[in-house]
Amino acid sequence: MSDYRETSIKKAEEYRISPSLILGIESSCDETAAAVVRAGREVVGTAVHTQIPVHRLYGGVVPEIASRSHTERMGSVVREALDNAGVTLDDISAIAVTYRPGLIGALLVGVSYAKGLAYARDLPLIGVDHITGHIAANYITYPDLEPPFMCIVASGGHSHIVRVNSYTDFTLIGRTRDDAAGEAFDKVARAMGLPYPGGPELEKLAKDGDANAFPLHTAFNEGESFDFSFSGLKTAVVNILHNAEQKGESVNRADLAASFQRAVIDALTKKSVRAAREAGLDTLALAGGVSANACLRERLQRECDKYGVRFCRPDMKYCTDNAAMIACQGHYELMAHEPSPLSLDPNAASFLQEQ
Ligand code: KG4
Ligand code: ZN
Repeated sequence: MSDYRETSIKKAEEYRISPSLILGIESSCDETAAAVVRAGREVVGTAVHTQIPVHRLYGGVVPEIASRSHTERMGSVVREALDNAGVTLDDISAIAVTYRPGLIGALLVGVSYAKGLAYARDLPLIGVDHITGHIAANYITYPDLEPPFMCIVASGGHSHIVRVNSYTDFTLIGRTRDDAAGEAFDKVARAMGLPYPGGPELEKLAKDGDANAFPLHTAFNEGESFDFSFSGLKTAVVNILHNAEQKGESVNRADLAASFQRAVIDALTKKSVRAAREAGLDTLALAGGVSANACLRERLQRECDKYGVRFCRPDMKYCTDNAAMIACQGHYELMAHEPSPLSLDPNAASFLQEQ
């Protein structure tokens, strides 16, 4: 074992001198993903197996099913990513893997697989925090983007405003006090009878709706705090649906979806743009699954334009969970510190939540 440790440290030093190919592995929730990325920014091959059709039957992610599906698919997804990149394991210089946050059973599959591969091939192992991976998706889309910048991370599990001080140093400025933005989208969509995952479905329904039909808003919107709260907004929508049902009235679902979406976007936009401006930063990036929302992207672009702030958001294919973003962040972690030990332990929470 000590031989492996010494070799992985030596290979990490070689990587720092001449960065090359990193294999990224992601299994924190319901996508089994692998990708090969050169020097942190150039994606040379990717593969994703989504479990959405299976979880849709249950209206949400079933952790046990997710873990088993990752176990079934991980080997073939890694092979597919290598094939798409036109390389073999012999060409890989390091293995980056999501080790937090996420479903523990799901994380364990990716982490165990990555450890086995790293040990068998004498390659450095790099544990990557999934949230920092989402942020790094922006580096793929904008080759010139460098810290410091402000980032709004909106995913199924998190709504964070993060100051990206350097590639590997982050300060949590604001967080959700209850439901995450994506979680609120999913729960409201479910209450409206839409399938999982609700975010994209709700966005589609909202397209023809009047966003001002219902005067919905989120808590803490006007105060100094950079924290979010989406659970009251979710309850307000559910109450509107229940009240109408009890009275035998019908609700304009498109209007309700559009009004809910507008309220979420209002909070995410106002707070993140204010955070960037108050910190004196000239760039605001968007990250996480909710960044696929076209209305959110447009609204943030408009608001940033107003204040002369540069707005960055990942290409659509790197908004939701993928392994290219993990390999990308893995590159910067490997440039900054020693590789992870083989005792790397998955954690359900992000390190940002420990700040
Ligand atoms: O980042 P992600 O793929 O997984 C987590 O790390 O959680 O984010 C998934 C979340 C889900 O809640 C999904 O409903 C939401 O992102 N989402 C969207 C859209 N596409 C995905 N929410 C709103 N509008 C979308 N177009
Ligand atoms: Zn994610």
